[in-house]
Amino acid sequence: MRRVSKVEQGLALPVCRSQISLTDIPPSSPDFTDRIIEGDCLKELRLLASNSVDLVFADPPYNLQLGGDLLRPNNTRVDGVNHEWDRFDSFAAYDAFTRSWLAECKRVLKPNGSLWVIGSYHNIFRVGAAVQDLGFWLQNDVVWLKTNPMPNFKGTRFTNAHETLIWAARDEKARPTFNYDTLKAFNDDLQMRSDWLIPICSGPERLRDDGGRKAHPTQKPEALLSRILLATSKPGDIVLDPFFGTGTTGAVAKRLGRRFIGIERDGDYVKAAQERIAVITALSEDAIAPIVSKRAEPRIPFGMVLELGMLNPGDALFDAKAAIKAQIMADGSINWSGVRGSIHAVGARAQGRAACNGWTFWHYRTRHSELTPIDELRSSARKRLAPTMAKTKEFA
Ligand SMILES: C[S@@+](CC[C@H](N)C(=O)[O-])C[C@H]1O[C@@H](n2cnc3c(N)ncnc32)[C@H](O)[C@@H]1O
Repeated sequence: MRRVSKVEQGLALPVCRSQISLTDIPPSSPDFTDRIIEGDCLKELRLLASNSVDLVFADPPYNLQLGGDLLRPNNTRVDGVNHEWDRFDSFAAYDAFTRSWLAECKRVLKPNGSLWVIGSYHNIFRVGAAVQDLGFWLQNDVVWLKTNPMPNFKGTRFTNAHETLIWAARDEKARPTFNYDTLKAFNDDLQMRSDWLIPICSGPERLRDDGGRKAHPTQKPEALLSRILLATSKPGDIVLDPFFGTGTTGAVAKRLGRRFIGIERDGDYVKAAQERIAVITALSEDAIAPIVSKRAEPRIPFGMVLELGMLNPGDALFDAKAAIKAQIMADGSINWSGVRGSIHAVGARAQGRAACNGWTFWHYRTRHSELTPIDELRSSARKRLAPTMAKTKEFA
């Protein structure tokens, strides 16, 4: 039996409540998530409620079909994937298996949910065809370029230095989460591309048994999962991984404030995942808040600033040098020398220009008599109204 030596046994969290039907637990309940279900995903997925998860990440068996041990030039055995869980009798059997779990994942995804599947040349084309046949809508394929891939020891092929990820929306109509600005900031203000250079999982991150052997042959790097969750989920979202292995998805989800459900058939991997996730510390809410682009921010009209009592009818607005002065009217318009209209229209007229952003042009006097752009009041209004506005959007 494999054991993870680095984690003390006593630290394990009671995350594993296998064989429990989740159909009766509302997804909003904390009991619905942060659990590992030990079992076959074909069976266990049926016990999850429809429209209940925001994101699926699946790292299914690769169907590598290795024909015996692979040796290095120095005759040591390569610790490859030749486990029973990766064996299928035929391509037809693999395809039938793939279509079954994908169909269930589609059912449990929320209408705007999305799916990630990772695979190699052995399986990803078959999986991709099934994804499209089942009505998922392809968003991107992403190439994970490995900085440190395993060489092709026999020298008969190219070094296999990448894996492919498919990102697909639940269907054509879905509008899946995509935190564009977060990823752009991550990438030094350049739009994030679909080729991701990330090392394979190694060093202290790699779980090992007491004999120093890898606890799992295909443990994925946390950096890969981190990028996926940061890009396509929000804090509090529910992430499902039907092939949980040693729980990379759960570990990253917990750290990034996402909720998770993992399904894994092998009890030893479940145990390794439990112990691993138990010692993960969740980051603070502030640290995980995604960047909200100006476009996605709720619209605040100037009249709302008055309704919130931040400014009052009769108050004065000025340009930055206090050379131009206007008065705020009761209906949310402003008056500059007899010209009435919105903050934008009057700002443009006062400068003799075709257009003007009234939010940055007009200033108000603070209690300490400092001239401050009214845009700051709009930001405060957004903060105050954001929770209510998000709810309104949800139900719209
Ligand atoms: C490619 S590995 C996933 C590794 C995982 N992403 C990680 O980082 O540790 C696939 C996993 O799926 C599990 N598995 C295979 N068939 C399964 C099934 N029908 N139901 C549940 N788990 C299954 C295997 O035991 C294996 O751990």
